Amino acid sequence: MKLSQCHNFKDFRQLAKETLPDPIFNYIDGAADDEVTYRRNTSAYDSVDLVPNVLAGVEEIDMSVTLFGKKLAMPLYCAPTALQRLFHHDGERAVAKAAQKYGTMFGVSALGTVSVEEIGEVIPDTPKMFQFYFHKDRGLNDSMIDRAKAAKFDVMALTVDTITGGNRERDHRTGFTSPPKLTPASLMSFALRPRWTWNYLTHPKFDLPHLSTHVQEGSNIATSIGSYFAKMLDQSMNWKDAEKIRERWGGHFALKGVMSVADARRAVDIGCTGIMVSNHGGRQLDGSRASFDQLAEIVDAVGDKLDVVCEGGIQRGTHVLKALSLGAKACSGGRLYLYALAAAGQPGVERALGQYRSEIERGMKLMGVKSVSELNRGNLRFR
Ligand code: LAC
Repeated sequence: MKLSQCHNFKDFRQLAKETLPDPIFNYIDGAADDEVTYRRNTSAYDSVDLVPNVLAGVEEIDMSVTLFGKKLAMPLYCAPTALQRLFHHDGERAVAKAAQKYGTMFGVSALGTVSVEEIGEVIPDTPKMFQFYFHKDRGLNDSMIDRAKAAKFDVMALTVDTITGGNRERDHRTGFTSPPKLTPASLMSFALRPRWTWNYLTHPKFDLPHLSTHVQEGSNIATSIGSYFAKMLDQSMNWKDAEKIRERWGGHFALKGVMSVADARRAVDIGCTGIMVSNHGGRQLDGSRASFDQLAEIVDAVGDKLDVVCEGGIQRGTHVLKALSLGAKACSGGRLYLYALAAAGQPGVERALGQYRSEIERGMKLMGVKSVSELNRGNLRFR
């Protein structure tokens, strides 16, 4: 399969599968336990139908949105995800430039493989989010906040759904770790993907530059992501801590992984300017409700007080239109650009974002809306 044959999410996934060693593909592709939440994150969109209007004069449409005070040219952005240089040797650099080209936001993970300083220089004028994990090591926490601030990131998202590691059984089976470990089983999977292995070995050494200043796990000591969360993150994290992080950060601040109305309200109380309704792509609590299923009640409770982002499961432009019709300000996701990154680097991510943009544009025209602000619950029927 070639990039020119990738027309949708499933095609990119297939090309990524053909490109990546098995443990790495399954790290992206997998989720927790029985992966019920992971599947529902996407199928939830099928329980709602769009009701279009016609004869609306739609030759010019505007899909831009304002999120965290920044204008995004499209209502979908690249959520922060970990370990990107394992998926393609350009990693975050490729995704950052593709996001810049499409005028949308790019999120850099605390477990990112290119530093906030470098990303700040590569895409100075593009809206940037830094995703933060609350570690036991307080010096590390302060260093990450201060570095993201100095690199002029616009938004900080504190991830709140990783208080311990999800049970990712595919990773147990393949032995996936960061950095990858050569074991008899994994050796075979690397040998079967010689181009990936060559690129991995001939590009700068794998590193997690936000963490390796303080801890060795993940960069020099191989660890699974599940054990990283369980061992390195601080399980005592509470609302006071979140508030203190927000204070030190001082800018737009979001909680990523809010699923209940009660928590959404508390997010408002501690001064958050946004929340991501998210279950971490189904990778943490399996059986948790799908983001789209939970969106309406959260929007009803806090949608007029902060920006609500619907994250997870998006594979089509019409999924974005459905979430915006329910009241999300914007949507985001990881796999929606990660398979494309793995498949073909920056051109892959550009092709994927370009397809989402065309699907959103086509969907808006067929819906008879010229601006995303016209989307509302009247456009939707629940089955
Ligand atoms: C994951 C983390 C690192 O889901 O975001 O693997």
